[in-house]
Amino acid sequence: MRFISPTIEGIEDFAAEEISRLGGKIERIEKGFVIYTGPDELFARINYFGKMVERVGIIIGEGEIKKESNLEKVIQCDTCEGKKINVKIEMKKAKFRKKELENEARKLGNGEVEIRLFLWLDGERVIGAIDTTGEGLHNRGYRVFKHPASLNPILAAAMLKISGWKNEFVDPFCGSGTILIEGYHQFKGIGNRFRKFPNWEKYREIRDMRNKEEPEILGVEKEKKYVEGAILNAKKAEAEVKIIEGDAQLLSKYYSGNYIITNPPFGLRMGNKKNVFTLYENFAKEMEENFEGSYLTMIIPHTKFENYFRIEEKREIKYGKLKSYIYKFKI
Ligand SMILES: C[S@@+](CC[C@H](N)C(=O)[O-])C[C@H]1O[C@@H](n2cnc3c(N)ncnc32)[C@H](O)[C@@H]1O
Repeated sequence: MRFISPTIEGIEDFAAEEISRLGGKIERIEKGFVIYTGPDELFARINYFGKMVERVGIIIGEGEIKKESNLEKVIQCDTCEGKKINVKIEMKKAKFRKKELENEARKLGNGEVEIRLFLWLDGERVIGAIDTTGEGLHNRGYRVFKHPASLNPILAAAMLKISGWKNEFVDPFCGSGTILIEGYHQFKGIGNRFRKFPNWEKYREIRDMRNKEEPEILGVEKEKKYVEGAILNAKKAEAEVKIIEGDAQLLSKYYSGNYIITNPPFGLRMGNKKNVFTLYENFAKEMEENFEGSYLTMIIPHTKFENYFRIEEKREIKYGKLKSYIYKFKI
């Protein structure tokens, strides 16, 4: 079978690596997508263990169309027989009328039971895939508390990978605990079992690959309400992590390890830019004075930290509409 998984632009190589590790054979990587082949049951494994992909689709057609009515020539959907097509269309540089494409796609089915068909269009090129995921995998199902600036867990997973952490790290601006929880699940080999999948029975056979050791993961957060929220999320996610109220500018009071992995305030959604730059300066000073030789991995839309530390890795990421960077610095 051929599959397609969309992911965040900038981490496609990580998504491909994860898919290979889970048993997929990579056919090609495109901006925001990985296309691969594998046995039929691969989609269940990737939905369950995939931390770097947004969904898994079974490809049912790929080709070029000149007009909307060409769709049926490109998409061959045996599984659509007797089904009702719920179509989702994403277009890049494509000039087609969405409504007409939807009408064409709906003609592929003729029943009551709904299946979701994704159409990704780039110019005249179209890829059609039957969705196996439902709600995107960034929704891990453990977020009982919602932080106003919470990080997409897929990016948290990518940051953890870049950081090179082994069994300990701190997130000094931990908010609702996304990086902490992702880290714990990554260490223990815990799959996406806090969410409900459609056709859940397909996933029953899959068990978490539990690591018996425990990591040491610490979160520091200035706002009490977020500390409480992070504790609730960690509890729901069965993540044994420590979360304390504190100030990132005084991090050495609480932490003396080597891996700092964080998503500081951007000064865009919360607070203002001037205050945030003062905070960055103070935080950088704390790093310089007390964490020499450690690694700081962060996601941030500003380049200011490049003035302070040596860059080990820098990636440009499309974070929603915002251009952002994941950095790994050596302090
Ligand atoms: C972008 S949010 C982090 C969101 C988090 N990654 C999540 O997914 O929920 C940044 C957090 O830093 C906290 N913060 C701001 N200044 C701080 C400081 N000096 N020390 C610790 N936390 C601080 C804010 O309250 C906010 O919760």
